[in-house]
Amino acid sequence: MSKVIFTHALADDLEAYCLRQALPKKLVLCVDKYIDTHFGAALSLELRKKNFTAHKSVIPASERSKSLAMANKLYGEWLTAGVDRSHVVVAIGGGVVGDLAGFVAASYMRGLRLIHVPTTLLAMVDSAIGGKVAVNHHAGKNLIGFFYDAELTLIDTAFLRSLPERDMHSGLAEVLKYALIGDEKFLTFLERHFEDILAQRPPLLTAIKKSVAAKLRIVRQDFRETKGLRATLNFGHTFAHALEKLAHYKYLRHGEAVLWGMLCASALSWRVGKITAEDLKRIAQMVVRFKIKERIAKAYFLECKEAEIINAMQADKKKQDGKLRFVLLEKIGQAALSDEQIEMHKVCQAIKDAKALWKHAGNA
Ligand SMILES: NC(=O)c1ccc[n+]([C@@H]2O[C@H](COP(=O)([O-])OP(=O)(O)OC[C@H]3O[C@@H](n4cnc5c(N)ncnc54)[C@H](O)[C@@H]3O)[C@@H](O)[C@H]2O)c1
Repeated sequence: MSKVIFTHALADDLEAYCLRQALPKKLVLCVDKYIDTHFGAALSLELRKKNFTAHKSVIPASERSKSLAMANKLYGEWLTAGVDRSHVVVAIGGGVVGDLAGFVAASYMRGLRLIHVPTTLLAMVDSAIGGKVAVNHHAGKNLIGFFYDAELTLIDTAFLRSLPERDMHSGLAEVLKYALIGDEKFLTFLERHFEDILAQRPPLLTAIKKSVAAKLRIVRQDFRETKGLRATLNFGHTFAHALEKLAHYKYLRHGEAVLWGMLCASALSWRVGKITAEDLKRIAQMVVRFKIKERIAKAYFLECKEAEIINAMQADKKKQDGKLRFVLLEKIGQAALSDEQIEMHKVCQAIKDAKALWKHAGNA
């Protein structure tokens, strides 16, 4: 299982890894376009000083990059550049770059070693941990992929200094998920330190470390998502992936969709009698502290018809025998993949509840 290291010296850590594994210092860097523009030259210099050779593929961070077409482009580039199995792929960017580079690393020449260097909060706490790599299909998100663990994830929180507020909020949504599905005390911590975390004061590092530990704890027990446990990490995602699809994978951040998805899933947990009205209220009070532009909330959540959202859910990977399955909260801090058949009118009602809670807080 992948090792996670917190660092402020990437080149040193890459060198130490190659020495430890007795590998030649040959890298394939897959770099987010923004990161390449702002940090690429300095990183290349550091790597040259340590006698690394590196082929670099620069990737526009758009959900559209997570495609078989882009994967095919990278295969071609790497073949032309003579990339072979002695190279180590280093994915430097957010979840888009990590998922795409991981997918290509897993399939190119039957698999190259992979190191993640996450540069968004979302990637640090979620996508760069746990070995899911994928590209999208027009039928739905992340439908073509592998379980392919990175050898190493190197987290340098200094990258977050340039991250826009919108992406901090998006990443924090996945942090909130860990609290809701597994750790009520962590929710109390997030309630207390929400502003500190967004302002990148010390509780941010605590929140990242707790999230990484939570994810590792789950994926170590259920790497291939066969025991139902790992599926709990998908809390809110059945709704979220549908919202992302309706927003053409373009106009919503993943975490924004997950935030509303978690509100819908919490409302559904209440509707089927699992959590109390007080629990739902507490969750809603936390969710509405996240900032999402009114225009975006209207267009990609509030004005989406419930039937359209439900229809867009049908490509969900948790579906079994043609039936949708939902991750529901048993209580705050405990979630499970529900086996019971949930009537669609309750799902529809839960979406309406979530919209009402969002509107009620003055978010639209
Ligand atoms: N594999 C998994 O387990 C997993 C888990 C959660 C999410 N995901 C996937 O992750 C993706 C979302 O990831 P994301 O939110 O990181 O989005 P992203 O990769 O699109 O990055 C968001 C934006 O931040 C920019 N950026 C990256 N680092 C920056 C920095 N340090 N400073 C300034 N800007 C920076 C990017 O250029 C981009 O514009 C989705 O495709 C989602 O499906 C995967």
